[in-house]
Order: sequence, then structure tokens, then C-alpha cells
Amino acid sequence: MTGVPRLEDLADRLDLRGRSVLLRADFNVPISDGEITDDLRIRAALPTMRWLLGAGARITACTHLGRPKGRPDPAFSVGPVRARLAELVPEVELLDNLRFDPGETANDPEFVQRLIAGHDAYVNDAFGASHRFHASIVGPPRFLPSAAGRLLEREVEILGELRQNPRRPFVAVMGGSKVSDKLAVIEALLEVVDSLVIGGGMCFTFLKARGHSVGTSLCEDDMVDTCRRLLDGPKPIHLPIDITALGPGGRLLDPTAGGEVRQMGASLPEGWMGVDIGPGTAAEFGDIIHEAGTVLWNGPMGVFEDPRFGGGTGAVAHAMAECRAFTIVGGGDSAAAAKQFGVDKEMDHVSTGGGAALELIEKGDLPGLAALRGAPGVNTEV
Ligand code: 3PG
Repeated sequence: MTGVPRLEDLADRLDLRGRSVLLRADFNVPISDGEITDDLRIRAALPTMRWLLGAGARITACTHLGRPKGRPDPAFSVGPVRARLAELVPEVELLDNLRFDPGETANDPEFVQRLIAGHDAYVNDAFGASHRFHASIVGPPRFLPSAAGRLLEREVEILGELRQNPRRPFVAVMGGSKVSDKLAVIEALLEVVDSLVIGGGMCFTFLKARGHSVGTSLCEDDMVDTCRRLLDGPKPIHLPIDITALGPGGRLLDPTAGGEVRQMGASLPEGWMGVDIGPGTAAEFGDIIHEAGTVLWNGPMGVFEDPRFGGGTGAVAHAMAECRAFTIVGGGDSAAAAKQFGVDKEMDHVSTGGGAALELIEKGDLPGLAALRGAPGVNTEV
């Protein structure tokens, strides 16, 4: 992560007193019925905002929220974010949702000029969006003295360290539905971890590659050969030895629909769907986590939103909370799961980025970091 300027480097170049700073944040928070249900991403940017205010700067913050289609859409209003900011840091002004303008995702040079007009400096604290080649991420550093905010800096240090010098044994626990979505990061992780633990929907493609029948479970048949190749590689990959399955007629997230729930071995009969790792697997995965020096967790072990299938994810979350390893939760669904099981505060690091965290682990760099490195007059390091 060489060459990325920090806030101190920016202050060395430019007396920030009375200056206007454009702050790109990732305030893409979950909102339900107009209420923010998790303000982690807003709170995580507070150190940067407070530092800039302390240095005498004025802050205009900007963010995307959801995926509007390049025009104003009340369903993606930043109003709730503005209201929360007004409670936490009333001095900070917030622009409208960046994605209300098609120039944001198109990285349109004219939109960049409109964004930077009237500002003296640019700070990127939007770790969760720094894997996007969007105008507000890669544009301003070409024109303004720039820096990474505290949150971006910390994410890069922690996730970068994983690739460089993790405390061993380093175990990655991967879940989520599709192997194809995470194949690149799984391959990158296999270069650096001591072992990989696989649960969630993606485990069934791996189990099929080992010759198990998977019933009606999620399975990507075109990825079976790839999974077999990974399983034949030099690093141990731990798969479930038992499965919690839902029988014919059952529906996910709807216990009233009936359908039997049973613990089964790693092979499932026709008509049964695997929806969580079983208790034996949860115990085994827990043991692996307890012996680790570093644990990176990305992706739930089952459909934890349905209480019948939350056991595996809960067991991993609690094992991570209790173990002595340096624990990192890789954003997105696993961060939501850690919160649901009440252990998010026990983790050493909960990343604010989902896709960005995986891309940083996979490639060791992000477009937003590269852009900061190229900012005018940069020669210092994160
Ligand atoms: C995220 O939630 O992962 C970030 O805010 C990026 O959002 P995006 O995937 O819509 O670009």
C-alpha cells in the first residue's frame, strides 16, 4: 500500500484552516421505512470528520446510497443520513446522492469538475466504494491535494497486513451462496492462508466435487470441476461433515409452510435442501477457529435470517468472539450476522466494505487507492 497520502500529509501541504474539503464517504447504510437500521458506516467516518474539523476545515461530504438509475429517486434519498449526520457532526454538509447523476458511475469528466468546484482539497474515506471506478472516487485526486481518511487508512492497513504478515495459523472462513462470486478471492486466499473453511450455500458445489449428492441445495454445476481442482491443491479445505436440511414442501423464512428440518450427513437425498451446516460441523469449525492466530470471516454459514437455520452462523460468530486469534469480519452479510448474534463488538475488525474488502484481499490494491497515489504532489505512504 505504498504511496497513499494520509491526512497529516495533506495538512503538511496545505493549511486547512478555513479551507473547503470534499469528503467522499460511503454512507450507503441500510434504511427501512425511512429509518437507518445500522449506522456503522456513518460512525466509522467520524474520526476523519472530527480530525478535519479540528484542523479548521469546512467539510462537504458526498456519498452514494443504493443503486438509483442516474436520476433523482426519492426511494434513494440521503435524507435519513443527513439527519443522522446532523446529530453527530452538525457542521458537516451532505450533497445529494451521487448516483442521482449518471456522471457518477460513468466517471464523466464534467461531473468531476462540478463535484470539485469550490473545494480546496479532497479526502477519500469511502473504503466500501473504493473498488469502483466512479467519478467521486477516481476523479478529484487528479485535480486537488488529496488524502485517505482514517477509516480507509485503517482498512487498508488491516486487510493489507493479512496478505503480508498474518499471525499464523491464518484461517479463512468463507460462506455465502455462490462459489463463482468468490472464486477469485478464494484463489488469492489459498496463496496466503494455512487452511480454508467452507460453509454456506457455496459448500454444496464443493461437496458435489467430493462426490456427495446435494439434493435440491444450491449448486453451481459448471463450477464443480473448479472446486475439485481447489480441493486437490496443497492447502487443506475443510467442508461440512453434516448438514441441516429442509425437507420437501418446506419454505425458507416461512416455518408455517411446514416441511421437516433434519440433521443429515454430508450427502442429501432427493428433494432435501441443505440450508445450514450441521452441529458436528459447527463444533469442528469452532475448534479450527480456536486454534487459529488470525481468522478472516466472509459469508454466513446458512440462511441465518431464518431462526431454524442460524445455528451454524451463530456458532462461527461465537467461536470468533471467544477465540484468541486476531478476528476480521469481511463486511456485508457476515457483519450483519455478527451484529445479529450480538458479537460484533468482540471482533478485532469489522470491515465497512463488502466487495471492496474482497477486492483488496484479492488484488492488493483498489482504484481509489491508486487514484490517491497519483494526486498532485504525493510522495508519502500509508
Ligand atoms: C457496498 O455497499 O458494498 C458499497 O457501498 C458499494 O456499493 P455498490 O456495490 O452499489 O457500488
